[in-house]
Amino acid sequence: MISLKCCVSIPAVAGALLVGLPYSISLVAQWLYGWPNKPGYQKYIEALKPRRIYCLARAVLEMLKYLQYGKLYFQWKLWYSNDKNNKHYVKGITFGRRGNKLDLYYSPRLELSDESPVPVVVFVYGGAWGSGDRSIYCLLALQMAKELNASVICPDYSIYPKGNVLNMVQDISDSLLWVRQKGHAFSLDQDNIILIGHSAGAHLCALTSLFLASNVEELFIETNKQKDLVTAIKGIIGLSGVYSIMDHYNHEKVRAVEYVSTMHKAMDGVENFDYYSPTSLLKKMKEDQLKRVPPMALFHGTNDIIVPVESSVRFSELLTSLSIRMSLYLIPKMNHTDMVTDLMAPDRHFYHTVYGCIKHEYSKFQTHTD
Ligand SMILES: *[C@@H]1O[C@H](CO)[C@@H](O)[C@H](O)[C@H]1NC(C)=O
Ligand SMILES: *[C@@H]1O[C@H](CO)[C@@H](O)[C@H](O)[C@H]1NC(C)=O
Repeated sequence: MISLKCCVSIPAVAGALLVGLPYSISLVAQWLYGWPNKPGYQKYIEALKPRRIYCLARAVLEMLKYLQYGKLYFQWKLWYSNDKNNKHYVKGITFGRRGNKLDLYYSPRLELSDESPVPVVVFVYGGAWGSGDRSIYCLLALQMAKELNASVICPDYSIYPKGNVLNMVQDISDSLLWVRQKGHAFSLDQDNIILIGHSAGAHLCALTSLFLASNVEELFIETNKQKDLVTAIKGIIGLSGVYSIMDHYNHEKVRAVEYVSTMHKAMDGVENFDYYSPTSLLKKMKEDQLKRVPPMALFHGTNDIIVPVESSVRFSELLTSLSIRMSLYLIPKMNHTDMVTDLMAPDRHFYHTVYGCIKHEYSKFQTHTD
């Protein structure tokens, strides 16, 4: 009697888990981050469709992979707590109209005592326009400063729900204004700025430059100041970037994460996707505005499932068709997170490959003169 009960209950328990687990995971995710809310949708019916449940549970479970980056977390905690490292950075400088803060990292290779100003890299982190924090990138910023002989600043920006994408672009522009207005006190070269961004950060770097090149009123920065800012940007490096919001939204739909994702909320809905897409903006820009667009280098891993490699490929084709200088690097077997985590420490797999290419592009930006 007892053994029979066991035989029945094991498959029953297994079955309940197999069905119950994905349902619970997906329902919690949607309850926390948003239900399907298209007009005509009955949100709970749509939320409970097996395909959505399956894909969403998979996307959530994939996040568990981030646990493997625990070691980096301890490395960066340790680095900050070591007083000897104090001289390499200045933390928590307030900038811009929303009181965001930025951290500044000096290259340990450079002597700052000599008066010549040092080129500046502005690193804009990603996080789907709704997460991220500058302190997570201290190891990356430090290595970048070392590898490029530059000073690196890492600004926070008003991620959703604190701000929408326009506010984020204003914040990035404000960080550039800060370099130009306050940078001399930190030996920064105000006329030599490189923007490097990852994922949503790459989108923001591209969008900010295009807004500045087109002189848009929404930035609330005077015309001549916008011109100075965009001229000071010597180049943009986009790492695993999103450049067409609609393409990315369609990809999110395939992964069934479009409603839990912060993207459409940060863009204030589908009707603004075009306006906030570098691809669509470029097509509308006039000849003289296009001339002001800085050269770009796009990097993308071919194993990226968060932002597919086609994003950079399509953007590169558009840039080329408009005669904007650009380079494209497709890195085999690399995924979305490798692109930043592997820039944090020299013992990581793609460190030398990616920095090799970044340095090459960086020197091209430095030597090119119009
Ligand atoms: C940085 O400086 C070192 C030593 O001065 C030099 O060997 C290296 O080529 C420089 N790197 C770049 C990217 O300019
Ligand atoms: C990314 O790829 C690396 C191998 O290059 C792997 O160890 C890691 O688990 C992957 N990360 C994620 C989040 O998929």
